[in-house]
Amino acid sequence: MSNLAAPTSLRFEHRAAPVLGLGTATPRLSWQVAAADADYAQTAYEVEITTGTAQVYTVQSPEQVLVPWPGDPLTSRESAQVRVRVRGNGDWSDWSRPATVEVGLLGSDDWTARFVSPRDNSHGSPAPLLAGVADLPDGIVKARLYATAHGVYLPELNGERVGDEELAPGWTAYQYRLRYQTYDVTSLVRPGENRLEFLVGNGWYRGRLGFQDQKEVYGNRLAVLAQLEVTTADGQVHTFGSDDTWTSRESAVLADDLYDGQRTDLRRTPGEPTSVDVLDADLGLLVAPDGPPVRITDVLPAVEISASPSGKTLIDFGQNLVGRVRLTVRGGAAGDEVVLRHAEVLEHGELGVRPLRTAKATDSYILAGSDEVTLDSPLTFHGFRYAEVTGVSDLRKEDLEAIVVGSDLPRTGWFDSSHALLNRFHENVVWGMRGNFVDVPTDCPQRDERLGWTGDIQVFSPTASFLFDTAGFLTNWLADLSAEQQKDGSVPFVVPDVLKNSAPATAAWGDAATIVPWVIYERTGDAGLLARQLPSMRAWVDKMADLAGDDLLWSGGFQFGDWLDPTAPPENPFRAKADPDVLATAHLARSAEVVAKAAEVVGDADLAREYADLAARVRQAFAAEYTTEGGRVLSDATTNYALALQWALLPTESQRERAGKRLADLVRTAGFRISTGFVGTPLIADALADSGHPDLAYRLLLQTACPSWLYSVTMGATTVWERYDSMLPDGSINPGQMTSFNHYALGAVADWMHRRVAGLAAGDPGYRTIVVQPLFTSHLTAASAKHITPYGEAAVAWTRSDGEIRLSVTVPVGSRAQVAVPGESEPVEVGHGTHEWTATYAETPALPAEPTVRQLIDHESSWDTFVAAAVETEVVADDGELAARLERYLDLPASQLVDAISRRDFSPAAQALQAKLDALLDN
Ligand code: BGC
Repeated sequence: MSNLAAPTSLRFEHRAAPVLGLGTATPRLSWQVAAADADYAQTAYEVEITTGTAQVYTVQSPEQVLVPWPGDPLTSRESAQVRVRVRGNGDWSDWSRPATVEVGLLGSDDWTARFVSPRDNSHGSPAPLLAGVADLPDGIVKARLYATAHGVYLPELNGERVGDEELAPGWTAYQYRLRYQTYDVTSLVRPGENRLEFLVGNGWYRGRLGFQDQKEVYGNRLAVLAQLEVTTADGQVHTFGSDDTWTSRESAVLADDLYDGQRTDLRRTPGEPTSVDVLDADLGLLVAPDGPPVRITDVLPAVEISASPSGKTLIDFGQNLVGRVRLTVRGGAAGDEVVLRHAEVLEHGELGVRPLRTAKATDSYILAGSDEVTLDSPLTFHGFRYAEVTGVSDLRKEDLEAIVVGSDLPRTGWFDSSHALLNRFHENVVWGMRGNFVDVPTDCPQRDERLGWTGDIQVFSPTASFLFDTAGFLTNWLADLSAEQQKDGSVPFVVPDVLKNSAPATAAWGDAATIVPWVIYERTGDAGLLARQLPSMRAWVDKMADLAGDDLLWSGGFQFGDWLDPTAPPENPFRAKADPDVLATAHLARSAEVVAKAAEVVGDADLAREYADLAARVRQAFAAEYTTEGGRVLSDATTNYALALQWALLPTESQRERAGKRLADLVRTAGFRISTGFVGTPLIADALADSGHPDLAYRLLLQTACPSWLYSVTMGATTVWERYDSMLPDGSINPGQMTSFNHYALGAVADWMHRRVAGLAAGDPGYRTIVVQPLFTSHLTAASAKHITPYGEAAVAWTRSDGEIRLSVTVPVGSRAQVAVPGESEPVEVGHGTHEWTATYAETPALPAEPTVRQLIDHESSWDTFVAAAVETEVVADDGELAARLERYLDLPASQLVDAISRRDFSPAAQALQAKLDALLDN
């Protein structure tokens, strides 16, 4: 008997079964096989599709991820039961459990409902309740509600909440694509009169958006589209849609806005129903979701209630999060007002609201009386850790909870290590992602922005796609990106585009068009997405090439550049060290390369050649203009070295080697403080490690002085900050305008932690092969990562003790791993299952005799001893100052170091330090 498990985890496109309301008639299928004999490899699979009768399709193929739908296309509303079994070594597995997929409404003629809108409900009016009555027959066996809105909606059927979605229909480029939701309402309907009622908020459609005080970006009329379809036992389908019989009333929600918050008067009963207008809206824009909706993903208790110095009541939820506060009150009087303000941090003990800029982030309630009532504001969300409550006497911790709201993405990635601060940093990256994946990948979730900044997700997408299943979420977002890309190929700075710049083009931001689809392909194997995005990808590269002109150097014009480089002044983030022209041309080369590779995947060899040639010519132009024979890269900034090294922009081996050395020196003389902004941050650790300086990469990663990744952790951060120093060491908030405490961009280094610290990386697309290449280090005694790949769970864990490394690698069925086993010169290839190795670990070598300054710095324990002595003797204030003074002296014999840093002042302090150095070097 062979040991071959039945397939599990069936997926249709990027959605896990059971799927309701799928947007395609021919969904691609994926499955996993939990266990199989070591020599098993799939040679064939069978798919059984039951849509009334069962039909089995046998396919000779080793594939199990995103395989084509073998049956006839499904039709709108049709549901199918699907089972899969697989064969390898001659045996068939058992059938998987049947999975259900049901198609949504694929065409605009499937809708008989029409958008209905309240009359006299301008922006600033109370949120409307739109309602309709459906008279339903006996014998209902199935009921579906298809719905969407202009605005955000909460649906009820016969007084019961429908579904568990928050902020539906989410945010898309509404002028091109509007998602509808499909709900199973079989248990909520009854024969006879059924009442559907929708509370509609301004949301993204009509509320405030962006920092330029915009509102009503998509229109000034809220509206609902609802279609209830019930199937009776005789197979008949009865359809009831929103139409001119619907009515509208004003709700108790006086005001609602995503930025400003919600105001509710609990004394109000809904007003008199009035007629609605039927809108002539384009139903051709309706699309089904590609990924999971926004839901409540967590509920956190209040950790502490305290009084601020000015006497305010402050609640600490212990975690910077995105959502809202639910508060239970009792014993008030009618007309009493309860107000909640929110902030991410405290400054001088009070709510630090300045970073929110103009977002009021305030929820308020006017009570109806003394009865116990739970207050909630579901038409808004805030980014906060702290809330300030007024209007409640006798507030108890148990009365408060923080409702965490976000796209309900399945978690797929984990990291752990022996380093507590690093683990907390990783946790902060996860929380930053949870807070900024609220239907759109945003820059930040709290201030008057919360926009789909392209550059931010471009750098963060590798990390994101490890931590959570983002394929459907980003597939949707990329559809908006292509829809909003301008005719000349330029890519809006934010998607959905509310900034509406004309011909927006800036490196690293626009490159989201090429890099995000490529990352999804690498991590999920979705070649279909590449095919769909290829025109958009090309258009962006063509735009850049056009801006570059004949010399292929994209220079001049607007660039965000290496945004928020920590050495730029707080008030001028444009003044990064890395020359923006160098960075821009690097991106042209990189994206042209990506288009070439995508064209190859899609099978367009001519196109692949064309863009590979463009990439080669841009690299040449780059090398000629911006690099020297000796491996220098203009403007001698860490970010530009990282780009040049990682994106193959240096033509010769010796240039690469010397550029790596120069990068390492820049990192040393920055005292291992981080010096990269949004663009360099995801690359610098790879650039150091790949150029032979893994230990320096670790010293950068594990640095805790400001600025560094772990500095924020030492300051109590629970999310990744927009700036390395959003909060300054003295506890005051950075004076810059851009100072959020929840921005994922700088957390992009987590991808390196997964791939190189733990050592779990995708090789062939979709983790068809896994590359295991951990950078064992004396800084850690253990590191591990786990990822649910499309094939199933992969894991890498290593520990180091007593001069030995133990490495354990788990490979899912269907995948193979190339493992860099310590001590082996070639990677070892292994198949599915768990594999373990033990090898000796070469501990850090002793400090060489007569070291140079560089060698002394690199020998961390000796360097720490020297730094401590230099601080103690007061020759320098800290290691940062010391390192900065060394710029010109790295090749000097270390014995002459004191002279160099004390600028030959021969003071008693310098003499004392020299004595300590002599002792250190003698040892
Ligand atoms: C956002 C960023 C964004 C940037 C553009 C900021 O306001 O918060 O994350 O990428 O503008 O450089």
